[in-house]
This record gives sequence, C-alpha cells and structure tokens, in this order.
Amino acid sequence: MILNHLANPFDQVQRESHLVGKELWNVTTWGGRFAGKMDEAFERFNRSFPIDKRLILEDIEGSLAHAEALKSIAVLTPPEFKEIVSGLHQLKDRVKEAPSFLEESKDEDVHTFVETQLVKIIGKTGLKLHTGRSRNDQIALDTRLFLKRALIEVQGQVKQLMIEIVNLASNNSELIIPGFTHLRKAQPILFAHYLLAYFEMFFRDHQRFQDCFRRTNCLPLGAGALAGSGFPVNREALRKQLGFAQITHNSLDAVSDRDYLVDFVSASSLTLVHLSRLAEDFIIYSAPEFGWIELSDCVTTGSSLMPQKKNPDSLELIRGKSARVIGNLTQLLIVLKGLPLTYNKDLQEDKEILFDTLDTLLDCLNITQVILSTLQVNPSAAHRALEEGFLNATDLADYLVRKGLPFREAHELVGRIVLNCENQRIKLPDLPLDDYQHFSVLFEEDIFEILSVQSSIEAHSVHGGTSPSRVTKALSDAKEI
Ligand code: ARG
Repeated sequence: MILNHLANPFDQVQRESHLVGKELWNVTTWGGRFAGKMDEAFERFNRSFPIDKRLILEDIEGSLAHAEALKSIAVLTPPEFKEIVSGLHQLKDRVKEAPSFLEESKDEDVHTFVETQLVKIIGKTGLKLHTGRSRNDQIALDTRLFLKRALIEVQGQVKQLMIEIVNLASNNSELIIPGFTHLRKAQPILFAHYLLAYFEMFFRDHQRFQDCFRRTNCLPLGAGALAGSGFPVNREALRKQLGFAQITHNSLDAVSDRDYLVDFVSASSLTLVHLSRLAEDFIIYSAPEFGWIELSDCVTTGSSLMPQKKNPDSLELIRGKSARVIGNLTQLLIVLKGLPLTYNKDLQEDKEILFDTLDTLLDCLNITQVILSTLQVNPSAAHRALEEGFLNATDLADYLVRKGLPFREAHELVGRIVLNCENQRIKLPDLPLDDYQHFSVLFEEDIFEILSVQSSIEAHSVHGGTSPSRVTKALSDAKEI
C-alpha cells in the first residue's frame, strides 16, 4: 500500500523506453550501463552457473519469499504476485522433472538464470522481482538455506557413525588390545574403550555442527547490495517464512560475512581429521603383521601385479581426502582475509569450497560406516599381541608403590627388571619370584596376579579409565546419547 504509486510508473517506463524491440529476458540483469561486449574468455571466467546451479531450489525459495515481501508493501499488486509465484513454481517443477535443461543455459549465475527463466515463463512482470534486493543478499541467503539443510544431513550421518561405533564396541565388549603411545605398545586396554574414544570425538563434532547450524540460522535477505534494501521489506516476516531463527543486524556484515562457511569447513576439517586418525589406526590394525581386524572384501582392493594383496584403499582414501577439506579451509580463510567490506567477487569462490567439503565429508562418513559395520575382529591375534612388549611393566611399578616404595624408585627398579628380562628373552610373568626378590624384598607371591592383562585393565578404574565396569557404564552412556 505504501508504495502503490510505484507500480504504474514502472510499467510505463518499461512500455515506453528501452525494452521496445528487445527480448525481455535479455534485460534482466546489468546490461544497461555497458556499450561494449564482454570478452568471451572473461565471460566464461566470470560465470558461476555451472557451480551455483546447485542452489537453484534455494534461490527459488528465497525469490518466493521476496515476492511475498514485495506484495506486502505493494510493490507488487496481488495479480502480479500471483503471476510471479506461479512462474517460480513452474520453474521449480521443470527443474525437478528435467534438471538437464539447466545444462543448456549460458547464464552468468543461478540468480540471473532464475530471473531470466521467470521472465521467459510469465513475461515482463518477472522484471519486477528483483526490486529491493541484490544478488549480494540473495547469494548469502541461498548458501545459508543450503547449508542449514546440509548440516541436518551431516549431523544425521555423524550420528549414524556413532551408532556403528557403539555396535562394534558392544559386540566386542570383552576384547583386550594393546594401547599405544608413540606407536609403541604401552598398556592393555579394552577394544571397546578404544572405540569409545572415537565416539567422544564424533560426539564433539556433532555438537560443533549444531553450533554451526545456530550461526547459519540467520536471515541476510533485506540487506540489499550493502546498505539495506531501499524498500521497507518486512524482514521479520521474511525470517518467519524462510524458517530462520534470527535476522542479521548489519547489512554490510550480512553481504560480506562468510563466517558460517568457515565454521562449517572448519568443523568438517576436524571431523575429517578424526576420520583420518581412525583410518590410520585401522590400516595398522588390519595389516597382516597386526591382524586384529580384517577388513571386508567390499571395502578393499587388490593389486594389479601382486596376486596376494588385499589393500585398505577405502581407509587410505579417507586419510587422503581429509587433506582436501583442510585445503578448502585454508583456501576459504585466504579468500576472506584481505577483502575490504563489503561484497567482492572473490566470494564467488566459496561455493566450490562449500560443495566439495560437503560431498567429501558425506562420502567419508558413509564409507567409514560401511567399514565399521563389515569388518571382522580377530581376538586371537589381539591376544597374541598382548604377550610381547612388557605391557604390564607399569602395573609392576604400581605394585611396588602400594608396598610403600616412592614411584620414581619403583619406575627405576622395574626398568631394570625389564632390561634383565629382555636380555634373557623372557616375559615378566616368566621371571621366578627369587629373581624378583633379588631386585626388591617388597616382591611377594601375589605379584603374579597383578601381571595378568585382566588385572591390569581392572586396576584402571578411575572415571574415564579402561576397567570393564567403567567401560560398561561408558557404553551404556553412549547408547543413551
Ligand atoms: N555469483 C555471485 C557469487 O557467488 C553472486 C553475487 C554476485 N554479486 C555481484 N555483485 N556481482 O558471489
């Protein structure tokens, strides 16, 4: 109502001036100021449509909401509004039915494509849609809408992975493996305890994506090119219609902010670091020299030359692909760091980063689930691995401490016992009591009890430790989560 007077003069201008004799869809964007033609190579260089066409449904959704906002302030009459809505819906249906028609387009980007198609479908009324908005607030809106959906899918996949971890841990709840530091055998731990370490990591990742969702959930539409829309669109109504929790508070920030993408790529990088570490562990544990786990044929490959090989390519690719996403994070930060406010075309680079990160992350999450749900555990190999390596040396030192020896002295003494056993090529339980007593009178018959792996894991019963009762509780807490 407020802006009713604008409707007619606008029509008037169109009818009487520069549109005459031109195809309507050629005038939808920014051609007016230019006398010369664009260089062909630059035109290709400048085009983002081959990449950002993936945002088409978001662009249409945002356009529908914007049309509604324009109707509410009488920039569009109700019949014009209806026409635009119907045109946008027709376009949406066409995209869903035959997405291949997007391939034919020569448009600069997804925004010009939608507008051009709309004008082709409904004619000159379509030329009014871009009133009071800019591609700058539009692209920020599209990527936020896209990312919100993507985050829900990512969180679902992370959750699914957490479930696979819990399943594998539950099915092997009593298995003991050597725990490592410096990739050297350190102390015995429950395999379930080991797996739940990854559960913790992925749980934090899940929370990070939640946090990212919260910051993405903010409507930038209405920021215009940079100064705020020149038309008093009701941003609160737009927020409600497009399902955002908040609206941006500064138009300059709204069109130039890509923090939400940094949050996402950063959280993804960390998730991939976790996936990569798990992959590295499993490459080691499944190597024939270890053999604690056997990867399924469905996630391994053979060698073209060596007939005996069964290679863990799935895990290696996960480890390798984490590098891409970390690279994406670096690239995005570098794109942003020198940009003057507000919008600059450099920002167009963000889409490839977003899509590549999302696709790589989802692939890696999915393949890891397949690996976990199809692998076989080999308890006897894990068992054998516990025999060598003096994994119980610390328990022996702790024994002496309980008998009153200061820990440093106990450490020194057990070190000498280990050296002695190493020289004799025997294990700690093989050393006779007499020999123990030669090292210290504190040793008694009961040392042989504490030297078993079972008693070792039972001794580590602090909250967060590997004792069976703690791990049982941790597993049930994980299930609860
Ligand atoms: N394709 C552009 C991008 O992805 C859309 C925004 C264009 N804005 C502009 N002022 N040229 O960033």
